[in-house]
Amino acid sequence: MPNVVQFQNVTKRFGATTVIRDVNFTVDDRPGKGEFIAILGPSGCGKSTVLRLIAGLPPHHPASEGAVLVADKPVGPPGSDRSMVFQDYTSFDNRTVQDNVAFGLECRGVAAKERRERAREWIAKVGLDITRDAPKYPHELSGGMRQRVAIARTLILSPRIILMDEPFGALDPTTRLNMQELLVNLWREAQATVFFVTHSIEEAVYLGDRVYVFSSAPGTILREMQVPPPDRPPKEMQRERSFVDLVFEIRDLIEKLETSTKAGD
Ligand SMILES: Nc1ncnc2c1ncn2[C@@H]1O[C@H](COP(=O)(O)OP(=O)(O)OP(=O)(O)O)[C@@H](O)[C@H]1O
Ligand SMILES: [Mg+2]
Repeated sequence: MPNVVQFQNVTKRFGATTVIRDVNFTVDDRPGKGEFIAILGPSGCGKSTVLRLIAGLPPHHPASEGAVLVADKPVGPPGSDRSMVFQDYTSFDNRTVQDNVAFGLECRGVAAKERRERAREWIAKVGLDITRDAPKYPHELSGGMRQRVAIARTLILSPRIILMDEPFGALDPTTRLNMQELLVNLWREAQATVFFVTHSIEEAVYLGDRVYVFSSAPGTILREMQVPPPDRPPKEMQRERSFVDLVFEIRDLIEKLETSTKAGD
């Protein structure tokens, strides 16, 4: 079984600035069950850079040094095996919800009738109303609804790897918890590997099977932690003692790592 993603001593520089340094990790294949990797780290440490390297998106791709491997091969240009969901809502303004969700299928040359059926199926799966929401344009949607569209657009293509860059950062706390629960349910079905960047330790601990903690810039992985999988709704899990303890443990760890890396500079 090939590894899903592997970074071997990956360094990225823009001119004289090193943005990530010697990043190493391996995500191996778990047939029938993907892995959920949450990435935490201070602003500017290179989290988006790591996602864009996996996606093969310039100018972050290619790496300056080291190897980024997807399925054991050097990563190529963006392909439908890897899909990215950005923090800002990335739908086409001039397309309806239905046509936004169907966009990737259109690119693949799927016939109109099948496209329409599958798009409508996904609109319902992400909790939008087919009759009411499918004909709307992005400007007629709330932030939460737009992120539902973004998730539907991505998952309809069954990517092997899903890259999510602070997708819920702009949502209110209640909508955010609902979206976390929705994502967990859809992800189980999709069996994909997810890389999920967030600034919320609670969100990382809830969603992740593994959490990578990055150092401040130039980013490198300081700690890799296994955390319990999300087997209950976030509202329940986040109330539990063991969950709260883990969140504080990571918060302390980040503080300590930051002081020690600063002191070591
Ligand atoms: N196209 C670019 N050209 C030059 N420098 C860049 C480019 N893109 C990013 N950088 C630099 O790389 C560093 C890491 O950026 P990156 O966007 O990966 O950080 P981040 O961890 O995602 O931050 P945040 O949490 O604020 O989103 C930053 O110092 C940024 O200025
Ligand atoms: Mg970023």
